[in-house]
Amino acid sequence: MQVIPTILSLRERLSREPGVAFVPTMGNLHEGHLALVELARQRGRCVVVSIFVNPLQFGPTEDFASYPRTFEADCAKLEAAGVDVVFAPAPQELYPVAQQVTVEPPPIATELCGAYRPGHFRGVATVVLKLFNIVQPQIAVFGKKDYQQLHVVRVMAQQLNVPVEIVGAETTRAADGLALSSRNGYLTAEERAEAPRLHRNLQHIAQVLRSGARDFPALEAAAAADLAVHGWRVDYISVRAQATLAPARPDDSMLAVLAAAHLGQTRLIDNVEVAA
Ligand code: PAJ
Repeated sequence: MQVIPTILSLRERLSREPGVAFVPTMGNLHEGHLALVELARQRGRCVVVSIFVNPLQFGPTEDFASYPRTFEADCAKLEAAGVDVVFAPAPQELYPVAQQVTVEPPPIATELCGAYRPGHFRGVATVVLKLFNIVQPQIAVFGKKDYQQLHVVRVMAQQLNVPVEIVGAETTRAADGLALSSRNGYLTAEERAEAPRLHRNLQHIAQVLRSGARDFPALEAAAAADLAVHGWRVDYISVRAQATLAPARPDDSMLAVLAAAHLGQTRLIDNVEVAA
Protein backbone atom coordinates (compact mmCIF):
# COMPACT_ATOMS: atom_id res chain seq x y z
CA MET A 1 0.00 0.00 0.00
CA GLN A 2 1.28 3.41 -0.96
CA VAL A 3 0.48 6.57 1.01
CA ILE A 4 0.58 9.57 -1.31
CA PRO A 5 0.23 13.16 -0.11
CA THR A 6 0.39 15.13 -3.37
CA ILE A 7 -1.87 15.42 -6.41
CA LEU A 8 1.06 15.21 -8.78
CA SER A 9 2.43 11.91 -7.45
CA LEU A 10 -1.08 10.45 -7.16
CA ARG A 11 -1.78 11.26 -10.84
CA GLU A 12 1.57 9.71 -11.77
CA ARG A 13 0.82 6.54 -9.77
CA LEU A 14 -2.73 6.17 -11.17
CA SER A 15 -1.88 6.92 -14.80
CA ARG A 16 -1.26 3.20 -15.37
CA GLU A 17 -4.47 2.06 -13.60
CA PRO A 18 -7.56 1.48 -15.75
CA GLY A 19 -10.13 0.41 -13.14
CA VAL A 20 -9.87 2.61 -10.08
CA ALA A 21 -12.48 2.17 -7.32
CA PHE A 22 -12.47 5.10 -4.93
CA VAL A 23 -13.65 5.51 -1.32
CA PRO A 24 -13.48 9.09 -0.01
CA THR A 25 -13.30 9.39 3.81
CA MET A 26 -12.39 11.81 6.58
CA GLY A 27 -10.46 9.10 8.45
CA ASN A 28 -11.05 7.76 11.97
CA LEU A 29 -12.01 4.60 10.16
CA HIS A 30 -14.39 1.98 11.53
CA GLU A 31 -16.07 -1.17 10.17
CA GLY A 32 -18.53 0.94 8.16
CA HIS A 33 -15.70 2.49 6.16
CA LEU A 34 -14.03 -0.91 5.78
CA ALA A 35 -17.25 -2.40 4.33
CA LEU A 36 -17.09 0.33 1.66
CA VAL A 37 -13.47 -0.62 0.98
CA GLU A 38 -14.45 -4.28 0.62
CA LEU A 39 -17.14 -3.33 -1.91
CA ALA A 40 -14.59 -1.23 -3.80
CA ARG A 41 -12.18 -4.18 -3.83
CA GLN A 42 -14.85 -6.39 -5.40
CA ARG A 43 -15.63 -3.76 -8.02
CA GLY A 44 -12.25 -2.31 -8.99
CA ARG A 45 -8.74 -3.44 -9.86
CA CYS A 46 -7.07 -0.66 -7.89
CA VAL A 47 -8.61 0.64 -4.66
CA VAL A 48 -7.89 4.23 -3.67
CA VAL A 49 -9.02 5.62 -0.30
CA SER A 50 -8.71 9.30 0.51
CA ILE A 51 -8.34 10.59 4.07
CA PHE A 52 -9.05 14.30 4.29
CA VAL A 53 -10.99 16.24 6.91
CA ASN A 54 -12.57 18.79 4.60
CA PRO A 55 -12.80 22.24 6.24
CA LEU A 56 -15.27 23.42 3.58
CA GLN A 57 -18.08 21.18 4.83
CA PHE A 58 -17.93 22.18 8.51
CA GLY A 59 -19.89 25.17 9.86
CA PRO A 60 -18.12 27.78 12.02
CA THR A 61 -19.47 26.25 15.25
CA GLU A 62 -19.00 22.62 14.20
CA ASP A 63 -16.32 20.08 15.16
CA PHE A 64 -13.68 20.61 12.45
CA ALA A 65 -10.85 21.30 14.93
CA SER A 66 -11.78 18.44 17.26
CA TYR A 67 -12.74 15.91 14.56
CA PRO A 68 -10.83 12.70 15.49
CA ARG A 69 -7.63 12.32 13.47
CA THR A 70 -6.12 8.82 13.76
CA PHE A 71 -3.94 8.60 10.68
CA GLU A 72 -1.54 5.80 11.74
CA ALA A 73 -4.32 3.49 12.93
CA ASP A 74 -6.34 4.26 9.77
CA CYS A 75 -3.42 3.29 7.52
CA ALA A 76 -2.93 0.01 9.41
CA LYS A 77 -6.61 -0.86 8.86
CA LEU A 78 -6.47 0.05 5.18
CA GLU A 79 -3.30 -1.94 4.64
CA ALA A 80 -4.94 -5.01 6.25
CA ALA A 81 -8.03 -4.44 4.06
CA GLY A 82 -5.95 -4.70 0.89
CA VAL A 83 -6.09 -1.06 -0.21
CA ASP A 84 -3.64 -0.12 -2.97
CA VAL A 85 -3.30 3.63 -2.51
CA VAL A 86 -4.13 6.07 0.30
CA PHE A 87 -4.42 9.69 -0.81
CA ALA A 88 -3.81 11.88 2.23
CA PRO A 89 -3.37 15.49 1.18
CA ALA A 90 -2.58 18.35 3.54
CA PRO A 91 -5.21 21.14 3.52
CA GLN A 92 -2.93 23.39 1.41
CA GLU A 93 -2.69 20.66 -1.23
CA LEU A 94 -6.45 20.71 -1.91
CA TYR A 95 -6.97 24.37 -1.04
CA PRO A 96 -3.76 26.23 -1.99
CA VAL A 97 -5.87 29.38 -2.32
CA ALA A 98 -9.27 30.15 -0.81
CA GLN A 99 -11.78 28.03 -2.76
CA GLN A 100 -13.85 30.52 -4.76
CA VAL A 101 -15.28 28.09 -7.30
CA THR A 102 -17.76 25.77 -5.61
CA VAL A 103 -20.43 23.27 -6.64
CA GLU A 104 -23.96 24.59 -6.08
CA PRO A 105 -25.84 21.48 -4.97
CA PRO A 106 -29.48 20.88 -5.94
CA PRO A 107 -32.22 22.61 -3.90
CA ILE A 108 -32.87 19.45 -1.86
CA ALA A 109 -29.50 20.18 -0.20
CA THR A 110 -31.15 22.99 1.78
CA GLU A 111 -33.63 20.57 3.37
CA LEU A 112 -33.15 17.85 6.02
CA CYS A 113 -29.51 18.13 7.25
CA GLY A 114 -28.95 21.08 4.92
CA ALA A 115 -31.49 23.13 6.87
CA TYR A 116 -29.41 22.69 10.03
CA ARG A 117 -25.95 22.78 8.41
CA PRO A 118 -26.01 25.69 5.92
CA GLY A 119 -23.35 25.27 3.25
CA HIS A 120 -22.52 21.71 4.33
CA PHE A 121 -23.51 20.01 1.08
CA ARG A 122 -21.85 22.72 -1.01
CA GLY A 123 -18.64 21.85 0.86
CA VAL A 124 -19.20 18.12 0.37
CA ALA A 125 -20.06 18.42 -3.34
CA THR A 126 -17.08 20.70 -3.97
CA VAL A 127 -14.50 18.44 -2.30
CA VAL A 128 -15.99 15.30 -3.85
CA LEU A 129 -15.82 16.81 -7.35
CA LYS A 130 -12.23 17.90 -6.72
CA LEU A 131 -11.38 14.39 -5.52
CA PHE A 132 -13.13 12.84 -8.55
CA ASN A 133 -11.08 15.09 -10.85
CA ILE A 134 -7.87 14.18 -9.05
CA VAL A 135 -8.44 10.41 -8.74
CA GLN A 136 -10.59 9.97 -11.89
CA PRO A 137 -12.15 6.75 -10.61
CA GLN A 138 -14.35 4.43 -12.62
CA ILE A 139 -16.51 3.82 -9.56
CA ALA A 140 -16.85 5.55 -6.19
CA VAL A 141 -18.46 4.05 -3.10
CA PHE A 142 -20.53 6.07 -0.60
CA GLY A 143 -22.45 4.86 2.46
CA LYS A 144 -26.22 5.00 2.77
CA LYS A 145 -25.58 6.07 6.36
CA ASP A 146 -25.21 9.57 4.92
CA TYR A 147 -28.28 9.18 2.71
CA GLN A 148 -28.68 12.81 1.69
CA GLN A 149 -24.96 13.06 0.91
CA LEU A 150 -25.19 9.98 -1.33
CA HIS A 151 -28.16 11.58 -3.11
CA VAL A 152 -26.39 14.93 -3.60
CA VAL A 153 -23.26 13.20 -4.95
CA ARG A 154 -25.33 11.09 -7.36
CA VAL A 155 -27.20 14.13 -8.69
CA MET A 156 -23.96 16.10 -9.01
CA ALA A 157 -22.22 13.32 -10.94
CA GLN A 158 -25.25 12.94 -13.22
CA GLN A 159 -25.88 16.61 -13.92
CA LEU A 160 -22.19 17.54 -14.29
CA ASN A 161 -21.52 14.47 -16.48
CA VAL A 162 -18.76 13.12 -14.26
CA PRO A 163 -17.76 9.74 -15.78
CA VAL A 164 -18.00 7.79 -12.53
CA GLU A 165 -20.44 5.15 -11.31
CA ILE A 166 -21.71 5.98 -7.82
CA VAL A 167 -22.25 2.86 -5.69
CA GLY A 168 -24.31 3.06 -2.47
CA ALA A 169 -23.30 0.72 0.38
CA GLU A 170 -25.59 -0.48 3.18
CA THR A 171 -25.19 1.01 6.65
CA THR A 172 -22.98 -0.94 9.04
CA ARG A 173 -24.45 -1.06 12.55
CA ALA A 174 -23.42 -2.10 16.05
CA ALA A 175 -25.24 -5.17 17.41
CA ASP A 176 -27.79 -2.91 19.15
CA GLY A 177 -28.63 -1.12 15.88
CA LEU A 178 -26.64 2.10 16.31
CA ALA A 179 -25.14 3.12 12.96
CA LEU A 180 -21.35 3.18 13.22
CA SER A 181 -19.98 6.73 13.07
CA SER A 182 -16.78 8.51 13.94
CA ARG A 183 -18.91 10.85 16.06
CA ASN A 184 -20.12 7.94 18.28
CA GLY A 185 -16.78 8.36 20.05
CA TYR A 186 -18.11 11.63 21.51
CA LEU A 187 -20.89 9.79 23.41
CA THR A 188 -20.64 9.18 27.17
CA ALA A 189 -21.34 5.61 28.36
CA GLU A 190 -24.87 6.65 29.35
CA GLU A 191 -25.52 8.32 26.00
CA ARG A 192 -24.12 5.31 24.14
CA ALA A 193 -26.68 3.11 25.91
CA GLU A 194 -29.47 5.51 24.88
CA ALA A 195 -28.25 6.04 21.29
CA PRO A 196 -29.93 2.99 19.63
CA ARG A 197 -33.34 4.56 20.33
CA LEU A 198 -32.92 6.61 17.15
CA HIS A 199 -32.73 3.51 14.95
CA ARG A 200 -35.51 1.77 16.93
CA ASN A 201 -37.83 4.69 16.16
CA LEU A 202 -36.95 4.60 12.46
CA GLN A 203 -37.56 0.86 12.33
CA HIS A 204 -40.89 1.33 14.05
CA ILE A 205 -41.97 3.93 11.47
CA ALA A 206 -40.81 1.59 8.67
CA GLN A 207 -42.89 -1.25 10.10
CA VAL A 208 -46.01 0.91 10.36
CA LEU A 209 -45.48 2.19 6.80
CA ARG A 210 -45.18 -1.38 5.54
CA SER A 211 -48.52 -2.18 7.16
CA GLY A 212 -50.05 0.53 4.96
CA ALA A 213 -50.07 3.66 7.15
CA ARG A 214 -49.66 6.93 5.26
CA ASP A 215 -50.15 9.60 7.91
CA PHE A 216 -46.53 10.73 7.64
CA PRO A 217 -46.73 13.81 9.94
CA ALA A 218 -48.29 11.75 12.75
CA LEU A 219 -45.61 9.05 12.49
CA GLU A 220 -42.83 11.67 12.41
CA ALA A 221 -44.29 13.55 15.40
CA ALA A 222 -44.72 10.39 17.51
CA ALA A 223 -41.10 9.35 16.97
CA ALA A 224 -39.84 12.88 17.68
CA ALA A 225 -41.88 12.95 20.90
CA ASP A 226 -40.46 9.60 22.06
CA LEU A 227 -36.91 10.86 21.49
CA ALA A 228 -37.64 14.19 23.21
CA VAL A 229 -38.94 12.54 26.40
CA HIS A 230 -35.71 10.54 26.51
CA GLY A 231 -33.58 13.67 26.44
CA TRP A 232 -32.89 14.05 22.72
CA ARG A 233 -33.05 17.33 20.80
CA VAL A 234 -34.51 16.38 17.44
CA ASP A 235 -33.55 18.29 14.28
CA TYR A 236 -35.90 16.33 12.02
CA ILE A 237 -37.56 12.99 11.38
CA SER A 238 -38.93 12.86 7.86
CA VAL A 239 -40.46 10.34 5.49
CA ARG A 240 -39.20 10.99 1.97
CA ALA A 241 -39.32 9.49 -1.52
CA GLN A 242 -36.13 7.44 -2.05
CA ALA A 243 -35.42 8.66 -5.58
CA THR A 244 -35.74 12.42 -5.01
CA LEU A 245 -35.79 12.90 -1.22
CA ALA A 246 -38.90 15.01 -1.74
CA PRO A 247 -41.48 14.73 1.07
CA ALA A 248 -43.30 11.42 0.64
CA ARG A 249 -46.73 11.36 -0.95
CA PRO A 250 -49.30 8.72 -0.04
CA ASP A 251 -48.91 6.89 -3.37
CA ASP A 252 -45.10 6.66 -3.14
CA SER A 253 -43.91 3.12 -2.44
CA MET A 254 -40.10 3.42 -2.31
CA LEU A 255 -39.57 5.48 0.83
CA ALA A 256 -36.75 6.45 3.14
CA VAL A 257 -37.15 7.67 6.70
CA LEU A 258 -34.37 10.08 7.64
CA ALA A 259 -33.53 11.56 11.03
CA ALA A 260 -31.02 13.76 12.80
CA ALA A 261 -31.03 14.36 16.56
CA HIS A 262 -28.68 15.53 19.27
CA LEU A 263 -27.84 13.46 22.32
CA GLY A 264 -25.89 15.71 24.69
CA GLN A 265 -23.17 17.37 22.62
CA THR A 266 -23.34 14.79 19.82
CA ARG A 267 -25.42 15.03 16.66
CA LEU A 268 -26.43 11.62 15.29
CA ILE A 269 -28.02 10.85 11.93
CA ASP A 270 -29.64 7.68 10.66
CA ASN A 271 -32.13 6.46 8.08
CA VAL A 272 -33.92 3.35 6.86
CA GLU A 273 -35.20 2.50 3.42
CA VAL A 274 -38.74 1.13 3.19
CA ALA A 275 -40.55 -0.51 0.32
CA ALA A 276 -44.14 0.07 1.44
P1 PAJ B 1 -16.87 10.06 6.45
O1 PAJ B 1 -17.86 10.51 7.47
O2 PAJ B 1 -15.51 9.66 6.88
O3 PAJ B 1 -17.53 8.86 5.67
C1 PAJ B 1 -16.87 8.30 4.57
C2 PAJ B 1 -17.82 7.33 3.90
O4 PAJ B 1 -18.14 6.28 4.81
C3 PAJ B 1 -19.15 8.00 3.51
O5 PAJ B 1 -19.56 7.54 2.22
C4 PAJ B 1 -20.10 7.53 4.60
O6 PAJ B 1 -21.45 7.47 4.19
C5 PAJ B 1 -19.55 6.14 4.87
N1 PAJ B 1 -19.95 5.63 6.19
C6 PAJ B 1 -19.75 6.20 7.40
N2 PAJ B 1 -20.31 5.45 8.38
C7 PAJ B 1 -20.90 4.38 7.77
C8 PAJ B 1 -21.65 3.25 8.22
N3 PAJ B 1 -21.92 3.05 9.50
N4 PAJ B 1 -22.08 2.37 7.29
C9 PAJ B 1 -21.83 2.56 5.97
N5 PAJ B 1 -21.13 3.61 5.49
C10 PAJ B 1 -20.66 4.51 6.36
O7 PAJ B 1 -18.79 11.27 4.52
C11 PAJ B 1 -17.69 11.78 4.61
O8 PAJ B 1 -16.67 11.23 5.34
C12 PAJ B 1 -17.33 13.07 3.89
O9 PAJ B 1 -18.47 13.88 3.79
C13 PAJ B 1 -16.70 12.86 2.48
C14 PAJ B 1 -17.65 12.13 1.54
C15 PAJ B 1 -15.38 12.07 2.61
C16 PAJ B 1 -16.38 14.24 1.85
O10 PAJ B 1 -15.53 14.97 2.67
